[in-house]
Amino acid sequence: MAKYKSIFTRAVHGGERGAKPDFKPVSTPIYNSVGYLYEDLKDLDDVFGNERPGYVYSRYGSPTNAALEEVLADLEEGEAALTFGSGMAAVYAALMAAGVKAGASLLSAFDVYGATYAICARLLPDWGVKTKFVEATDLRAVEKALAELKPAAIILETISNPLMKVADIPAITKLAHRAGAKVILDNTFATPVLFQPLKYGVDFCVHSTTKYIGGHGDVLGGAIVSSKANRNILHEIIKMTGGNLGPAEAWLTLRGIKTLPLRMRQHCTNAMEVAKWLQGHPQISKVNYPGLADHPQHEMAMKLFPEGLFGGMISFEIESAGKKEIFRFMESLDLILPATTLGDVYSLTLYPAMSSHRALTPEERKKGGISDGLVRLSVGIEEVGEIIGDLEQALKKI
Ligand SMILES: Cc1ncc(COP(=O)(O)O)c(C=O)c1O
Repeated sequence: MAKYKSIFTRAVHGGERGAKPDFKPVSTPIYNSVGYLYEDLKDLDDVFGNERPGYVYSRYGSPTNAALEEVLADLEEGEAALTFGSGMAAVYAALMAAGVKAGASLLSAFDVYGATYAICARLLPDWGVKTKFVEATDLRAVEKALAELKPAAIILETISNPLMKVADIPAITKLAHRAGAKVILDNTFATPVLFQPLKYGVDFCVHSTTKYIGGHGDVLGGAIVSSKANRNILHEIIKMTGGNLGPAEAWLTLRGIKTLPLRMRQHCTNAMEVAKWLQGHPQISKVNYPGLADHPQHEMAMKLFPEGLFGGMISFEIESAGKKEIFRFMESLDLILPATTLGDVYSLTLYPAMSSHRALTPEERKKGGISDGLVRLSVGIEEVGEIIGDLEQALKKI
């Protein structure tokens, strides 16, 4: 017999919280519940007080997100991880956790994702943070800037967006720590398959999980892998400011991550072939890919990454091309999609001056080497001959 007489009450509570499972699901379910119950309120009190692990409210954590955080920390060989609603939410939380606040200063690599650049160039200075940009591949310049600025943190990318520069992360981390600065490294382009920053002492390893980690272009998200102590700082921040990854998104990302090493291998193999082909094409004046022997940081990439793996991202310049010619080229592509993202199974192309680096002024783009003829290509996992065939037919149209 039903516990409650009213159909109103029974409709609300029926079927809920009755099961006492004696089984374990093979894969983690999506826990949509916002609140969590304990037999004894003392347990809830202890979870609130961080005296025991558990869940109280989904802004504080959820079992689905916890499963994703566990595998991310494991792949990056870090102690802990925290997930966010987007890569930018993760970048911003890392800056806060690293002590970037009014009166402090921040050093950033010049060659970073446009929104990261905009946070450093425009948002933070308005809030009383002194920011400076540096060429991260110039160790002397980094050392000088650290000494002059005494920043709370330095932020940079393992493989930079969009010029694919590879800075000496182990050396920069040592210099930064010596100068009392925390290191925030965006490892989105490299993924833990190519590089595990925590091994070198990086404090906050940031990911836009929207990219390779999710891998299928269907889920926005971000993550930070760090020490347990830094995770605690980040957790206090997310508890106050939100920006959480939803459990359904955590589940999709967890699903995507299972094939990350397989996908990365194919991305890297394909990208190497495409980069070599582009380099030999008469209409292409420059190819930026760390796997090419003439890339300025090819040696560094060989030192940091596993043999033969240089990532799936390429950028290249089409000879004498401006916005009109690049639009024509991108519109002529058939297999390669002109979508504003990267790291998906699909091959994708993007015009940095229009999208990822639109937040920069034309002068800032010029200074950073992002020309009006530069195209970014995220090489997918399709058959490589068909990717090259598509590039070839589209180049003929301009
Ligand atoms: C290197 C890098 N970091 C961070 C981001 C921001 O990630 P999201 O779009 O998930 O906020 C991007 C987005 O393109 C990126 O390329």
